[in-house]
Amino acid sequence: MTSAPDPAQTLAHAVDPAAPILLFDSGVGGFTVLEEVRKVLPDAPILYAADTAGLPYGAKTEAQIAARVAGLLGRLTERYRPRLVCIACNTASTIALGMVREVLEVPIVGTVPAIKPAAALTRSGVIGLLGTEATIRQAYVDRLEHEFAAGKRLLRHGAPELVEAAEAKLRGQPFDAGAVVRAAEALRSMPDGDRIDTVVLACTHFPLLEPELAQAFGPDVRFVHGAAGIARQIARLTAGQEYARQSDDLALFTGSGNAPDAYAKALRRYGFAKGEVF
Ligand code: DGL
Repeated sequence: MTSAPDPAQTLAHAVDPAAPILLFDSGVGGFTVLEEVRKVLPDAPILYAADTAGLPYGAKTEAQIAARVAGLLGRLTERYRPRLVCIACNTASTIALGMVREVLEVPIVGTVPAIKPAAALTRSGVIGLLGTEATIRQAYVDRLEHEFAAGKRLLRHGAPELVEAAEAKLRGQPFDAGAVVRAAEALRSMPDGDRIDTVVLACTHFPLLEPELAQAFGPDVRFVHGAAGIARQIARLTAGQEYARQSDDLALFTGSGNAPDAYAKALRRYGFAKGEVF
């Protein structure tokens, strides 16, 4: 007696064991997602791509972001044939996830503000959300608020300065700690802001500043972000696939700058033997 092949198994066997998981962000914020991916899939070959030439996405228009993300992911997937793409950027995901899924024939995992877990955690019913200026105005965020935080209060603040601070921190350079204090004050000074007990870090760069944010908000505030959940989702979607790393993990940076050198220390810390300009 024969039985029909299990489609998930068939798919798993069709994947090249050397094919990487591609993580994409405007900068090094996606390292916060990568850290969790390494925990659950330590053998997975990783390709990291940072659109440093386009950073910061938060200050761009929706059309600019969608065009950059779709164009770059198209080129990257054609050249490196990843088994899965993770858009490790809230700004890019809330704007371009649907569109990119339409055009690329590879599983795509996005990163969207962790409003659902924050709504489950809050006791005061007041949640702060720190993201980029582009992210906090997205209808995607309105929908998440409506679906998961109805009856709660969601106070949003766009904090572009934190992106640059996080980038500088990873380059090992002095960064503006005042930017963190200003972001906390901006949320606190909104109506009901004094009752915030949970803050969604809705930009993948911001967990890089969690110690500074914890100090600025004080001990009664908890921070929530999606990195661990995204890593679990990637593990689910690649379940059963084999991994065989054939070369060192590579980090790519767009533009003609000296990013591979500037981030050399961080690259090593996150498991990359080398960085290159793409
Ligand atoms: N890391 C990106 C995010 O999660 C945004 C940083 C930027 O403004 O480019 O939203």
